[in-house]
Amino acid sequence: MRIYQAKNYQEMSRKAANIISAQIIMKPDAVLGLATGSTPLGVYRQLIDWYNKGDLDFSEIRSVNLDEYKGLAADNDQSYAYFMQANLFSQVNIRPENIYIPNGMEEDIPLECSRYNSIIRSLGGIDLQLLGIGNNGHIGFNEPGEAFELETHCVKLTENTIQANARFFDSMDDVPRYAYSTGIKNIMQARGILLAASGEAKAEALYKALYGPISPAVPASILQLHNNVYIVADEAALSLIREKGCLDAEEERP
Ligand code: GLP
Repeated sequence: MRIYQAKNYQEMSRKAANIISAQIIMKPDAVLGLATGSTPLGVYRQLIDWYNKGDLDFSEIRSVNLDEYKGLAADNDQSYAYFMQANLFSQVNIRPENIYIPNGMEEDIPLECSRYNSIIRSLGGIDLQLLGIGNNGHIGFNEPGEAFELETHCVKLTENTIQANARFFDSMDDVPRYAYSTGIKNIMQARGILLAASGEAKAEALYKALYGPISPAVPASILQLHNNVYIVADEAALSLIREKGCLDAEEERP
């Protein structure tokens, strides 16, 4: 596990975008596992900027998103499909047929889950999976307590996650209670994982994920067992880790 420290959100975004751009340059038809939330927004802005300068080409890139709210259509402005279009896909030259996101409108849960797992397999697996982290240590929508061996499944969101996501909706009643999410197994099968974290609100989750016991109680803790993980985090997100004296010189890269 490599930990890259950044001063602030902007620097974190740039460092994380650097890792993604290296992946795209090394393998122009790479399969990127992409994430939503406020954390990757700066990463996407940086990638768009480099694309506009002619430094990046998404024409052969395939993308597989982590999750989608159940019950929201792609044209709902709170859906993750909409988020991805607005914040990345519409601004780069990725081909629409190479974009995959769970279908939030599919009522048949087993059908949608197996369809999505088949897509990931048929693409040959994920080269680089981008992740944020929830306040409770969730990744994708894999909530605390869920089995590590799950693949794509339908999740009942925890109260903590519903509250955290409420800021994007007009009222609490509008916040979806269920989501389709790729599972920990799908995430762990990615050949590389990049977790980005910013802000004090993530400090405890990040500490538990990286230095706590590996347990479904903190879904991100499973990443300790993956052999190719990059953590890019700003000072505020690393504050508890630093306070506990866990970061050693080896990990303290510029
Ligand atoms: C949601 C998403 C996660 C994301 C998390 C944190 O739950 N499903 O993929 O990591 O929010 O979001 P933010 O980056 O806005 O803190």
